[in-house]
Amino acid sequence: MTAERARITVFDTTLRDGEQSPGCSMNQPEKLRLAQQLERLGVDVIEAGFPIASDGDFESVKAIATVVRRPIIAGLARACKPDIERAWEALKYAARPRIHVFLATSDIHLQYKLRITREQCLAQARESIRLAKSLCEDVEFSPEDATRTDPEFLCRVLDAVIEEGATTLNIPDTVGFTVPAEYGELISTIRRNVKGIENVVISAHCHNDLGMAVANALAGVAAGVRQVECTINGIGERAGNASLEEIVMAMRVRPDRYPYDTGVDGEQIFASSQMLSEITGIPVQPNKAITGRNAFAHEAGIHQDGVLKNPLTYEIMTPKSVGVPDSRLVLGKHSGRHALSIRCEQLGYQFDRRALDDIYRRFVRLADKIKHVEDRHLLELIRDTHKPSGSATPLIEPMVQAQSASMNATAASQSASNQAANLAADNQAADNQAAANAPEPETIKPFPVGPQTGAFGAPIPAHNDTHHEQTQQEDYLWGV
Ligand code: KIV
Ligand code: ZN
Repeated sequence: MTAERARITVFDTTLRDGEQSPGCSMNQPEKLRLAQQLERLGVDVIEAGFPIASDGDFESVKAIATVVRRPIIAGLARACKPDIERAWEALKYAARPRIHVFLATSDIHLQYKLRITREQCLAQARESIRLAKSLCEDVEFSPEDATRTDPEFLCRVLDAVIEEGATTLNIPDTVGFTVPAEYGELISTIRRNVKGIENVVISAHCHNDLGMAVANALAGVAAGVRQVECTINGIGERAGNASLEEIVMAMRVRPDRYPYDTGVDGEQIFASSQMLSEITGIPVQPNKAITGRNAFAHEAGIHQDGVLKNPLTYEIMTPKSVGVPDSRLVLGKHSGRHALSIRCEQLGYQFDRRALDDIYRRFVRLADKIKHVEDRHLLELIRDTHKPSGSATPLIEPMVQAQSASMNATAASQSASNQAANLAADNQAADNQAAANAPEPETIKPFPVGPQTGAFGAPIPAHNDTHHEQTQQEDYLWGV
């Protein structure tokens, strides 16, 4: 009998905490579009904004509450009457509204920011939750800067808000200060010492100032957290919030360590990431886990060879599982013959072993100079190298008349970068000796009509490796 897996509530705060990051503000139609994508993604709670912050934010929260019906819609409020009432004004249209009240509890915030005592803080927390509860059944409370708060005082505040009816207790690591073991211990301390804690949901809200937001959130989950607050692409104040896609996929890829379920549809992750990036104009960092351009790209020859033989060698999840169209082979100086031959085939050329070696030598010299060899460069190189003399077999016959095809070939050749052409000429000079032995050049053949060129990297074909039979030594070289 398998043990029942706990269900983790995914609380997305891209539209609130995420939007607070520099350069990420969004207008109302943009927020609504993203909220609808978040609904498709399958998040449980959408924190739609901070209604008191501006009329625009108020209208966005109201529009989302009206249109997006499946998830809970939350709105943020400071622990005071005007904020809570304004939040409710916007949220009351929701099918499932939630008021999220926060109040700092660390001495450093009480003393320097709020200028109140601990007793005043306790009273304010109580009063604000009482008011929120009078308006809305679903009330979340966040003791801001919880991880730098005296744990004993933190527990007293949490006792009080549970008594007033809070249904979710969020434990923010507001400044990204904690570390996984410490955060897990704090959650355990709260579970041991707060009265009525078993009747509420404990939530993690971790910032990424030390790059540990996701690890901290997962440590929280292991210690009993059942809601995680996170953002698409990890956007958020300063270094950002815990990234939704990383948390969800950590649970999916490592169920042995994180035996938890979420309602997230993994195949909607990439689309959500791309939409956010398109709306904000902030690109996703190329090496960002799960959603970065390089997350499923392979340049090193040994890796390319492995992935071509079986993707499991270097990929711990399939691109499809997170909605990425396909893996990419990026052709650069680290690439090997295997990837080069595959790409040549995709472009319509199959080479025998010797011809491939020839192309490969020139390819590596080119890659050393221009870093990333695109299809147009490769086509120049193929044309320049094989000339064509029977060493390459076009796989695809030109689909156009010979004359117009040769015009296309001329245009393609003109549009190829001067740099590549010059480098190909360099290569030619360097290979004079070999060229002297080469058969007479024939008239230039038009390039076959192949797959779309110029994309970033080449798609990895379905895993099968039947036509390469090699010795062990050749097999070793294949990847480099
Ligand atoms: O980081 C934080 O403390 C917050 C709270 C408002 C939940 O974003
Ligand atoms: Zn935050």
